Amino acid sequence: MWRAGAKTYIGKADIGEGTAVHGIRALMVTALQRLNSLRHGFALRLSEGLRATRGTYRERPCLALPPLDAAETAVIENLQTRYQTRFERDLSAPTSLRNYEYLDVLDRAFAQAGRSPPTGGALCDIGCANFWYVRALHAFFRPSSLIGVEVEGYRRYRDGHTRFDYAAGYIEGLPNTRFEVADFRDFGEPADVITAWFPFVTSTAILAWRLPLSMLRPQALFGRVKRNLRADGWFVMINHGQQEASTAAELCDAAGLEQCFCAAIAGPLGTHRPRVPVVSGWRLPRTYTGS
Ligand SMILES: C[S@@+](CC[C@H](N)C(=O)[O-])C[C@H]1O[C@@H](n2cnc3c(N)ncnc32)[C@H](O)[C@@H]1O
Repeated sequence: MWRAGAKTYIGKADIGEGTAVHGIRALMVTALQRLNSLRHGFALRLSEGLRATRGTYRERPCLALPPLDAAETAVIENLQTRYQTRFERDLSAPTSLRNYEYLDVLDRAFAQAGRSPPTGGALCDIGCANFWYVRALHAFFRPSSLIGVEVEGYRRYRDGHTRFDYAAGYIEGLPNTRFEVADFRDFGEPADVITAWFPFVTSTAILAWRLPLSMLRPQALFGRVKRNLRADGWFVMINHGQQEASTAAELCDAAGLEQCFCAAIAGPLGTHRPRVPVVSGWRLPRTYTGS
């Protein structure tokens, strides 16, 4: 178990609001970042304007997974049995494997924390991209309803389809499941469980995903999590590595959430990742009665 304690708040300086102590090089990087940010802002507005859809995109199910090594096979067979799921019946091989990886991360994190998964309630996933992992969320949380919220839902791929088109295919056939194009900071639906896989807390990350720096408002995002979370609800966050998890934990603390567990998860399905995912579970303070 690992608890964020570091006082290094890299977010602010990282987005250029801190002191200019890093000299000319840092200023040049910041100028370049700002230029990229302008480009990304333009692309985002353009994608919102050009919403024309090519229709639902459906992946061709692979039906059987490709050959894997013994450790990967053992993990997947274990998940298939315990969660009664076969992602390959609905998804391509790469997407199936990624769904098993996300399911494994959640499974290990809650086991490591000695907690049962919060099942059966309304689940909201923040920043779900095209919602390719919606089946992993369903398998783990078995929610009564599930909504994925994505601010750049009309981003267009090379094949002409948008994230919206892909999401429509991924959620097809899943009960009470929606994909909503919205900024979560303005999203008011209450939820029993809120999940966020790799929310942006640094400028490097947000620019790498081609969004403008103006979208980097993690304080507002975590503040919204607190407002939307029902009493006894859970916020489950996954970050890239311990430094990012530490930054995010400070922001959650500041938003008034209370950390219940934090676990770094290294499994055989995640060996491609440069940094180990860190899963943390958060709740409302017992005295909180809503605002
Ligand atoms: C690092 S990506 C992770 C995507 C996805 N969760 C995954 O694990 O593949 C973060 C996502 O959050 C989205 N995002 C960022 N800020 C958001 C906001 N305020 N509201 C909704 N989505 C947001 C981005 O567009 C991006 O798709």
